[in-house]
Amino acid sequence: MVSRVIPVDDFDLVIFGGTGDLARRKILPGLFRRFCSGQMPKDARIIGAARSDMDDAGFRQMVRDAIAEFGGKNATECDELDAFLAALHYVTIDARGEGGWSELAGKMRSGVVRAFYFSVGPGLFGDLAQRLKTHNLADDDSRIVVEKPFGRDLASAKALNKDLATYFDESQIYRIDHYLGKETVQNLMAVRFGNVLFEPLWNSQYVDHIQITVAETVGVGGRGGYYDKSGAMRDMVQNHLMQLLCLIAMEPPSKFDPDAVRDEKLKVIRALDPVDSHHIVRGQYAADGDKNSYRDDVENPKSFVESFIAMKVHLSNWRWAGTPFYLRTGKCMKARSSEITVVFKDAPHSIFGADEGRHRNVLSIQLQPNEGMTLDVTIKEPGPGGMRLVDVPLDMTFADALGPEAEDVPDAYERLIMDVIRGNQTLFMRGDEVEAAWAWTDPLIEGWQARNDVPKPYEQGSNGPEDALMLMHRDGRRWREIKG
Ligand code: BG6
Repeated sequence: MVSRVIPVDDFDLVIFGGTGDLARRKILPGLFRRFCSGQMPKDARIIGAARSDMDDAGFRQMVRDAIAEFGGKNATECDELDAFLAALHYVTIDARGEGGWSELAGKMRSGVVRAFYFSVGPGLFGDLAQRLKTHNLADDDSRIVVEKPFGRDLASAKALNKDLATYFDESQIYRIDHYLGKETVQNLMAVRFGNVLFEPLWNSQYVDHIQITVAETVGVGGRGGYYDKSGAMRDMVQNHLMQLLCLIAMEPPSKFDPDAVRDEKLKVIRALDPVDSHHIVRGQYAADGDKNSYRDDVENPKSFVESFIAMKVHLSNWRWAGTPFYLRTGKCMKARSSEITVVFKDAPHSIFGADEGRHRNVLSIQLQPNEGMTLDVTIKEPGPGGMRLVDVPLDMTFADALGPEAEDVPDAYERLIMDVIRGNQTLFMRGDEVEAAWAWTDPLIEGWQARNDVPKPYEQGSNGPEDALMLMHRDGRRWREIKG
């Protein structure tokens, strides 16, 4: 199976924060891979812009090192590195002042797509947007790309949206949630809306419950300062898990078009019920031998911020009334595994007798590390000895089904940046979606802050706190095992 690479239009991409961590780890190596694949036009320009004093040669060296470190296998096998580096330029810029802006203008071409990636803290979004306009760098067709965190509550997200809207139309603003760029996340839509098999059963009549797990093995690492002001709720649930929930729960859009899809996602967020405090479990990883605890990592011995959260949520709409969604995410867990599991209800009547126990169809969609799907179906256990039933998985691991091409899918950032150049906003969050997500999140956070809720300690390398297991056991259900 050969994947089709369709080159995008010629472009100039300016990366503000071009020397930062995200640029070095993801954006620049990702662009290099798109260059090697033939998707990025050879004449396209990438202009790094940051405060550091650097020239084009220094920037190219930095990118060469970043590609060696973070580019992955495809990058080391590609012999077009020098050609790619020649497309790179650098400008020292002052986001809050006037220095560097005319030099940037001098490096940009007319007649090509102009995109500006704000890989900087949200505090600079407004300043950058304003200067792009006052220096005539952006026109009505230019695009800006903004990174999370998009605000830390509803009020700050509204203020950011307002700032950006002063200078740019919503159709020019690309709010990144890199989970939407993951291959299997898009596959969720293909599976749901490209097959007749699932959709008739995709509702509270047939679905017992849905689980969404995003487990990580890493701790907060060197990001303690940021993380301790966010916690798992703001860092993961308000954005990534919320997006997964939307794609699983939304109604079929009338077409695969940015606003049709985003309208349906917005309806899901607005249908979310407030969550009862008994249905939220927060945790913090404890010290383990010579491994730091969460509080050590964030250097805040009194921190009440969660590195783990599990919750049961409900949607008030016709499709999902009565079907719980269990969400959990955490750092320092047993394995790196992101999985969505749809557990169907029991057959209405068992003709095989009560002894055969409970057999259920379970559709499990693995997002990472190994992308694929399994569907557990009940069959007869082979051999003599009567009618005994057994559940076996129909395994649809994409790499097996689609061959090596399936293992060679672009990283989320690569795909999303190409979508920016193509002008396709389907996989980006609209301003009203982000605000609706914060409107649901804020009262939950305010609730546990008002209660002085203390997160439960959990062992590193575990499934999270015991109470998270109880959250499901109380309902006669259990979490899927976290397997890497
Ligand atoms: C980021 C969070 O948005 O997503 C990180 O800020 C988290 O804390 C990361 O580790 C997880 O992304 P992925 O793609 O590794 O699952």
